[in-house]
Amino acid sequence: MTMQTQTKSNVKIAPSILSADFSKMGEEVKNLEESGADLIHCDVMDGVFVNNITFGIKMVEDLRKITKLPLDCHLMIVHPEKYAERFVRAGADIVTVHAEACGETLKDTLMLIKNAGAKCGAVINPDTPVSAIESVLPLCDMVLVMSVFPGFGGQKFIGDVLNKVRDIRRILSKNNLHADVEIDGGINAETVVFAKEAGANVIVAGSSIFKAADRAAAIRALRG
Ligand code: DX5
Ligand code: ZN
Repeated sequence: MTMQTQTKSNVKIAPSILSADFSKMGEEVKNLEESGADLIHCDVMDGVFVNNITFGIKMVEDLRKITKLPLDCHLMIVHPEKYAERFVRAGADIVTVHAEACGETLKDTLMLIKNAGAKCGAVINPDTPVSAIESVLPLCDMVLVMSVFPGFGGQKFIGDVLNKVRDIRRILSKNNLHADVEIDGGINAETVVFAKEAGANVIVAGSSIFKAADRAAAIRALRG
């Protein structure tokens, strides 16, 4: 008799709706849900912190009505402390804020998100060292390592950031912390292998999922 051993992957896939058709966002999110997405990654851009503008609180509020999947809101905005709580009230399950945008207020902003009732996370750009977030790791439910400079989908994966993913994993395990480690930018079926090997367990992907003829297969391939 053969035993069926089913090893369920602990890797979560978070498609980025930055690559969706904004004129049919509801259908796009429903389709991602049916295709096996674990989270919906919402890229909020203000045209100041990054050179692009996307959507804000109302989009999150409206998406909350049509999906039960966790909404993972990546705030690429200046003064995230001003808006983070409103994203939580709109229905965000996770709110991540950039160390570069928060500066001295990073810890307080993370606390604010937590106190408002959502999971919180700190994000670092490809050229920001792990030391910028090390002191707040005990507060973080998630750490997001950018593998492209934020602002646009479809950029090339920056492999150098994998060392930071490894460092963060090491620091977390040394201190018995259990934050998720998310990676975002240029992830496809090839680069995801390196990201997972380095210790990332939440995988954001925009263009590689949206360009795929079969989104469910693309999500399965990323999860591995
Ligand atoms: C970049 C965004 C990413 C982006 C990823 O500023 O934070 O979430 O949408 O898109 P791809 O997977 O196309 O690099
Ligand atoms: Zn993102």
